Amino acid sequence: MIKKCLFPVAGYGTRFLPATKAQPKEMLPILTKPLVQYGVEEALAAGMDHIAFVTGRNKRAIEDHFDITYELEDMISGTIRESQLNCVRNLIEQCTFTYTRQNHMRGLGDAILIGEALIGEQPFGVILADDLGVGEPDGIMAQMVRVYEKYRCSIVAVEEVPVEEVDKYGIVSGQRLDDQHIRVERMVEKPSPLDAPSNLAVIGRYILTPDIFDILRNTPPGKNGEVQLTDALQAQAANGKVIAYRFRGQRFDCGSIEGFVDATNFFFNRMQEQQ
Ligand code: G1P
Repeated sequence: MIKKCLFPVAGYGTRFLPATKAQPKEMLPILTKPLVQYGVEEALAAGMDHIAFVTGRNKRAIEDHFDITYELEDMISGTIRESQLNCVRNLIEQCTFTYTRQNHMRGLGDAILIGEALIGEQPFGVILADDLGVGEPDGIMAQMVRVYEKYRCSIVAVEEVPVEEVDKYGIVSGQRLDDQHIRVERMVEKPSPLDAPSNLAVIGRYILTPDIFDILRNTPPGKNGEVQLTDALQAQAANGKVIAYRFRGQRFDCGSIEGFVDATNFFFNRMQEQQ
């Protein structure tokens, strides 16, 4: 029922310089697959087969990745290497990919608003590819679709983080509905530990209702002078229209070197177990 998933991928990835000097951070691989591919696989597993990218300068490798590479494919045709491309070929066959560009870095909220042209008037998923999610048993976005079907409002995936790390995230608090669901009352972008309403952090998975676009249009720049999605969600939360969902599984912060290494070790161990 939710068919579209938006990937804001315009950010520079300065924490991974020099690796990200001339290539998108979303193309950094965990084993042999680029980060963004894990995200697209998660979206498709949730039934979202329209993949919308908000890109920027230096991001063309993402478009090329989700396209046929004739010379290469011809060269490896019939060799043992051919099967390594099957996973991305499946995505290319099953998904429609659309792109638009964010010219100025004005924040996640601005990137989502630019994505409106690709999304239109329907609820949609958002995946921040730096957050690599391993859902148990099914993907985090697939779990969130079920939550959406029940509550019919915006959904954010959350997990507890150490108090000293709350200033890296959007932090939520509200009314606990059961072990996994909270009706959000407050959302604060990157608060100091002293100001944080809790230690429940939004990770990079959202389902948003399309009224978010009008709210974003009227959201002034917030934390760090950027238009914050968290601030727009706070407007929905004031009407009881945001559910925070404690997902089942784990997530790796691949925007940090430590999280990137943890993810690599996790997938390497899993690969060895499967061999
Ligand atoms: C963004 C959001 C933040 C969220 C985080 C999840 O921040 O603004 O609310 O908690 O993603 O990864 P960023 O990491 O882009 O600074």
